[in-house]
Amino acid sequence: MTDSSRRVDFVVVSNRLPVDHVVDDDGTERWQPSPGGLVTALSPVMATNDGAWVGWPGRADLDLDEFDADGLHLVPVRLSSDEVDRYYEGFSNDTLWPLYHDVIAPPHYHREWWEAYVAVNERFAAAAASIAAEGATVWVQDYQLQLVPRMLREARPDLTIGFFNHIPFPPYGIYSQLPWRTQIVEGLLGADVVGFQRPADARNFQSAVRRLTTATTSQTAIRLPDGRRLVAKAYPISIDSASYEQLARRPDIRERARQIREDLGNPKVVMLGVDRLDYTKGIGHRLKAFGELLAEGRVSVEDVTLVQVATPSRERVDAYRQLRDEIELTVGRINGDYGTISHQAISYLHHGFPREEMVALCLAADVMLVTALRDGMNLVAKEYVAVRHDGDGVLVLSEFTGAADELKTSLRVNPHDIDGLKDAIVQAIEMPQAERRRRMRAMRKRVLEFDVAYWSSTFLRELAASKNP
Ligand code: ADP
Ligand code: F6P
Repeated sequence: MTDSSRRVDFVVVSNRLPVDHVVDDDGTERWQPSPGGLVTALSPVMATNDGAWVGWPGRADLDLDEFDADGLHLVPVRLSSDEVDRYYEGFSNDTLWPLYHDVIAPPHYHREWWEAYVAVNERFAAAAASIAAEGATVWVQDYQLQLVPRMLREARPDLTIGFFNHIPFPPYGIYSQLPWRTQIVEGLLGADVVGFQRPADARNFQSAVRRLTTATTSQTAIRLPDGRRLVAKAYPISIDSASYEQLARRPDIRERARQIREDLGNPKVVMLGVDRLDYTKGIGHRLKAFGELLAEGRVSVEDVTLVQVATPSRERVDAYRQLRDEIELTVGRINGDYGTISHQAISYLHHGFPREEMVALCLAADVMLVTALRDGMNLVAKEYVAVRHDGDGVLVLSEFTGAADELKTSLRVNPHDIDGLKDAIVQAIEMPQAERRRRMRAMRKRVLEFDVAYWSSTFLRELAASKNP
């Protein structure tokens, strides 16, 4: 809990702060941007709103006071290493994450993980309550903190409380596996507005509310037995589109994109994948499709190169360790089987990059491959579109992403259908320029108009209007 006397009118609460505290091998301590779409989306929102951001600084057992960084007021929440094991790696990322992503990997249920989840949610709620001024707005983020809305409401009925879920909310048939399904739904019902990425997620949540509580629902409204009303609906998240386009117009970044193509041996076609190394992202399916195309001679390494950025993620969770081994084995095999001295099939990069380099990669790529098996939104897809101010480039996009609801002129794929995915990759490679431009124009209109400022202002406006008298 914070002991500062400072109180603010707007508080964001998320598992992670926008920066992680890291210690290099030589003992140097520093802060670096933390991974994931949540931070990408919320950083520009917080830069334009005065307020505080409550979150974990990314390392265990770290006692830190509140501090200001890059114009943001950050309130660190301490997690012990046992809590990192049980609340973050356990319940958040080995129970909820696979359960909410269609059980692509088996969720594990452990009572001691749940107990840690409750205790840590209480700590986040207490930190938010102690920094929030009378009548403040508190915006709680994502699946790690689903109990916080109710805890906060009980402690501070004066607050206006929003919740946004960045990942999918599963159909009841899957959700009902969760031994603590009722407690989670009741936790979320503490909010005034519960936001989701897609209308389907909001409907799944409402169905869980009807099955597990005595609340009633009508369209986007939920009425609780005590008469309190709340809203549950979709607010698709986005990016600061204009800032990506601005970066893409910078001469040094354009030159860097040219350099990347040259360093790759100037192939006719550069394809790109950018994902946290997560089993939801369908990286293995993408590699299988590309490997088969090379094996069948439908594409050649002289003509087509795949750059795969696989960002390190959750490396102490077993399923992520195994995934890394599988992906790196597959990349090694494909490169061994099809690479030549001058041309590699796959350029594989397992580390973070500055935003400028990500933009240069998008500019350098003729085809962006997003083949997630399930993804709340997928901001990488929107970033590719925002960067392509030249109107060129093809986005191959899984229909199982939130982004597919909006980017309807992408080349939509079912990544489970490897033959269909292979055909889509060939179609992307061979697509005539006029068709590429027509498709990209429609997607750019959407991404530039419905940017992250639109997302946050819509959510916060409806949150302000929803406050019960
Ligand atoms: P998720 O939230 O599941 O990680 P998203 O695609 O929604 O997936 O968001 C990922 C964000 O992280 C994007 O803004 C993307 O540009 C960024 N990102 C992914 N990999 C890297 C990397 N290696 N270096 C820097 N930024 C990255
Ligand atoms: O939105 C998905 C999300 O899980 C965020 O909550 C999270 O910050 C990000 O992806 C990255 O994951 P992690 O914080 O576990 O590294």
